[in-house]
Amino acid sequence: MSIDKPISKTSFALTTPLYYVNGLPHIGSAYTTMIADAIARWYRLSGHEVMFVTGTDEHGQKIQRTAEEKGVNPQEHCDHISQQFQDLWHKLDIKFDRFSRTTASNHQAIVNEFFARVQKSDDIYLAQQQGWYCVACEEFKEKRELTEDGFCPIHTNQKVEWRDEENYFFRLSRYQQQLEELYTKNPDFIQPESRRNEVINFVKQGLQDFSISRVNVSWGFPIPDDPKHTIYVWFDALLGYVSALLDENDPPTLENALKKWYPFNLHLIGKDILRFHAVYWPAMLMSAQLPLPKQVFGHGFLTKDGKKMGKSLGNTLDPFSLVEKYGSDAVRYYFLKEIELGEDGDFNEIRFVNTLNADLANDLGNLLNRSLGMLKKYCKGVLPPITRTDISEENEVKQIGKSLEKKVIEAYQNYRFSSLCQEVLNLIRSCNKFIDESQPWSLYKQGEQKEVEKILYVVLESVRFAGFSLAPIIPNISNKIYTQLGFNFDFNQKDLGLKSNISNEHGQWGILPINQELPKAEPIFARLEVPENK
Ligand code: MSP
Repeated sequence: MSIDKPISKTSFALTTPLYYVNGLPHIGSAYTTMIADAIARWYRLSGHEVMFVTGTDEHGQKIQRTAEEKGVNPQEHCDHISQQFQDLWHKLDIKFDRFSRTTASNHQAIVNEFFARVQKSDDIYLAQQQGWYCVACEEFKEKRELTEDGFCPIHTNQKVEWRDEENYFFRLSRYQQQLEELYTKNPDFIQPESRRNEVINFVKQGLQDFSISRVNVSWGFPIPDDPKHTIYVWFDALLGYVSALLDENDPPTLENALKKWYPFNLHLIGKDILRFHAVYWPAMLMSAQLPLPKQVFGHGFLTKDGKKMGKSLGNTLDPFSLVEKYGSDAVRYYFLKEIELGEDGDFNEIRFVNTLNADLANDLGNLLNRSLGMLKKYCKGVLPPITRTDISEENEVKQIGKSLEKKVIEAYQNYRFSSLCQEVLNLIRSCNKFIDESQPWSLYKQGEQKEVEKILYVVLESVRFAGFSLAPIIPNISNKIYTQLGFNFDFNQKDLGLKSNISNEHGQWGILPINQELPKAEPIFARLEVPENK
């Protein structure tokens, strides 16, 4: 197989949120990042140049307080936690391109230049800010949003704090009409649909200016002409997406940052920070006269006992121990398959183990093992001289395989990972059924060698196609499938899709090579023990 012919590409740039470093990464942040990684991998595999940005949001009162409580210098604290995020991403096989840190040396110049542009548009003014502030959200809350006893609706263990101080404000109210036009003209700008409606209703109620500076918060960038104020953490953090685009040796200017990858195709976020990304951020960009991202996708929450998992609530699931216990493919597969993107999902360890055993160990793993065993017995372990044209158009597995080609592309383009996994499993299950019904062992005894070879071709090719289709989700299992089918592929290699027209070729059912001797069959996923009393 030749993989050295360069082909022309388009590009795709996406981000996860830049996560707060008030605590160690939890499974909620891992969830967003795993999804973004699957999207990035799919685009790379289909020949796009990809810029996948993730990172950490390190300023503001929340971080300042966390460091004070620990008695450490805030920068040291940030360095430590930010490194933990990077370590977790490596364990989960997240192949990001840039890791943005808001305390990075080149970020401040970008924030200042942006601030100056917004100021030039006359969208910044000084006024008195009074209101209830949730430090965990780093956001002012309307009285009506609070619980009866005065807690934040998201962080129900954190009392909001009264603030009455002079702040700089951003003239958000000026952008109401332009934002409404943006949502109407670009129905895909906010996805999924339910989130879009939520934002449209929020904006319809009337937009109020919001404060973009804080006094008494030292851990942040000072406002250039008034250093007793620091820039509000969100105003600083959103620009972390932009400074991530600077190449290593670029002087830190907006012009340099925006030259290649900007604007982003996708900001993938959780629904908790939708307003910041779908209302504040586009308005800030409009004010700075910069292009807007193409899409903001707000996914649902992972819950535990029905409550949002989060650092501030302390009810998180430790992603480090999960990945150490079960491996990265298992964790990635479970969250992408079990929760359709956009919906909320509850984690339960028994369900986790059962899903993985059923889908990966039994359906997919056993099918490969079983058919490689037959190939050894009936074809001396060599792929038979069969091509897709030898298989009848009436063959049900072939039909399912062919119809999957388009479905896989559409599912990735629309971020429908759960449906994608279901469709692939459907192909796999149809193979198991096909073997049981066609009984190759009897055909072999009857001397029907060609028929046996056709059955094995259909089944092994379907496993290959499943491995390819799921590679952005379970790259290591896909590598094992491909190796056992005699390919020399590494789905963890970022430029695999750039080397040849791989997705065009491998994204089709019916490309298995002929007359190739295969290595010894080995299980691709070991059955997991069902945990007790979970
Ligand atoms: N620092 C801001 C984002 C700034 S972006 C310029 C922030 N950080 S955060 O650490 O609180 O991360 C929020 C994001 O983490 C959510 O939007 C979501 O992507 C992810 N999740 C946090 N808890 C989650 C769940 N319980 N479930 C799913 N995802 C969640 O907000």
